[in-house]
Amino acid sequence: MRKQIIGGNWKMNLGSPQEAQEFVEKLIPKIKDLNNVDIVIAPPFTVLYEASKIIKGTNINLSGQNMYFEDKGAFTGDISPIFLKDVGCNYVILGHSERRNIFGETDELINKKLKKAFFIGLNPIVCIGEQLEEREQGKTEEIIDYQLKNTFKDLSKEEIIKTIIAYEPVWAIGTGKTATPEQAEEVHKFIREYINKTYGLDTAEKVRIQYGGSIKPNNAEDLFNQPNIDGGLVGGASLNIDSFYEILKAANEVSK
Ligand code: 13P
Repeated sequence: MRKQIIGGNWKMNLGSPQEAQEFVEKLIPKIKDLNNVDIVIAPPFTVLYEASKIIKGTNINLSGQNMYFEDKGAFTGDISPIFLKDVGCNYVILGHSERRNIFGETDELINKKLKKAFFIGLNPIVCIGEQLEEREQGKTEEIIDYQLKNTFKDLSKEEIIKTIIAYEPVWAIGTGKTATPEQAEEVHKFIREYINKTYGLDTAEKVRIQYGGSIKPNNAEDLFNQPNIDGGLVGGASLNIDSFYEILKAANEVSK
């Protein structure tokens, strides 16, 4: 049985120490009894330290939204995985479609970051997903297959088991157009089948695959109830305590 995992990806929001602090302080008491779901928040770098201090000893895990694959040095504007670890992160989001499409990150780069994350001891949440035109041209599986082969290149069984794969169809992100549970399940099943072919059934059954893209309280339960969907990566709805709580509660109640 796989435990559901929900990530709140704040993106470039709630980045001032006071608002982040207020948000996390209100969230903690609400969610303290949700024990059947792994809870992760990914605030902007500027407030990781504040968040980290407040969540100590709670059931909330902390994630960076990105990192570079070097420890330190002349990489202006980027962030070291060691800094993330030192500030209290145990997760990191890699290869988000906004990093891929706005900032030009490639599967090869994301693969280097992924290997580094394992080396440093950060649990990676790695995003893959097709664009609208690709879906319309019937290329979804081809694109997902390519991303799986290249982003997850040369990972060991142990590493792929530790990886959280986030399937985020780009056309569903921030658009209010959620993939239907059936559309999402179809791709999740395809991803698990790929892992089965590459690593074997035992491994495939252990890997957690999140859905992401316009998850809201009113669609969360149907999505999480699909056999191959193990939680979600939430953008907009993770910025509101009540909607984030409802989504966490929906995941907490799913048992497969
Ligand atoms: P929305 O939930 O705002 O669509 O964002 C999804 C996402 O990109 C999470 O990483």
